[in-house]
Amino acid sequence: MNRKDIETLAEWILEGGPFVVLTGAGMSTESNLPDFRSRQGLWAQYDPARLATEWAMENRPDEFYAFYRMRVEALKAASPNRGHGILADWERRGLLSAIVTQNVDGLHQEAGSRRVVELHGSLRTARCRACGAKSPGVRLLEGPLCPACGGRLRPDVVLFGENLPEASLEEAERLASTARLFVVLGSSLAVSPANCLPGVAAACGAKVAIVNREATPFDGRAHLVIQRGIGEVLAETDRVVSEKETLKGPV
Ligand code: APR
Repeated sequence: MNRKDIETLAEWILEGGPFVVLTGAGMSTESNLPDFRSRQGLWAQYDPARLATEWAMENRPDEFYAFYRMRVEALKAASPNRGHGILADWERRGLLSAIVTQNVDGLHQEAGSRRVVELHGSLRTARCRACGAKSPGVRLLEGPLCPACGGRLRPDVVLFGENLPEASLEEAERLASTARLFVVLGSSLAVSPANCLPGVAAACGAKVAIVNREATPFDGRAHLVIQRGIGEVLAETDRVVSEKETLKGPV
């Protein structure tokens, strides 16, 4: 791994000012949850149009619910990885301001991160299509009926073609436009409007770094691109940050 890139990222983190991270499914592959678009990703095995749309929920309920039950089941065996832990620790140390995530696995919160904006909802909850009541996501495993009104439950995630939760999107745009450092971790930046956030941050003067195993459409506009595993990059960066913090001593 290029030591200079890690040094640069560590320096930018220590410069102070709002530091915001945008995470994608690549953040959770080291927790044994598949991403979507890499070779072994979910969309290499399943067709999102047949499974992750409102149309699928209406017209192919058996396939739709089987797909989401499989994903809720996989969550039960998943736990935060070292990358999730480092981000939570950076928040506790006052280095990281907030995480905007496209992920629906809840692993940032489970690792202890408190300021997490979920753009695409969460598989940790299910919601009733009739009364809107929320239930734990695992209720989908017992059958799709709302415990409050008997209506049909659905996963509390944004399906293709649906709008994102307005408040989450507004908060994400506010965080991106006021960030001094904006770091993308494990996203192909293929899906809008999440993939507009690095551009918003850069346009408002932030330094933008991308840590992703594969190239993204934003690489040419980023100030730093590190094509390595997130866990190793964050562990290396945290080591350098801690060294520099020690050298700086108490202020
Ligand atoms: N370290 C670094 N990069 C990784 C790692 C890792 N350990 N694991 C995977 N990656 C990279 C992959 O190479 C890929 O480029 O993470 C990226 C994940 O991209 P996607 O699978 O497209 O996931 P994401 O960008 O989050 O997708 C956005 O699309 O299907 C919708 O709603 C879904 O939220 C999702 C959205």
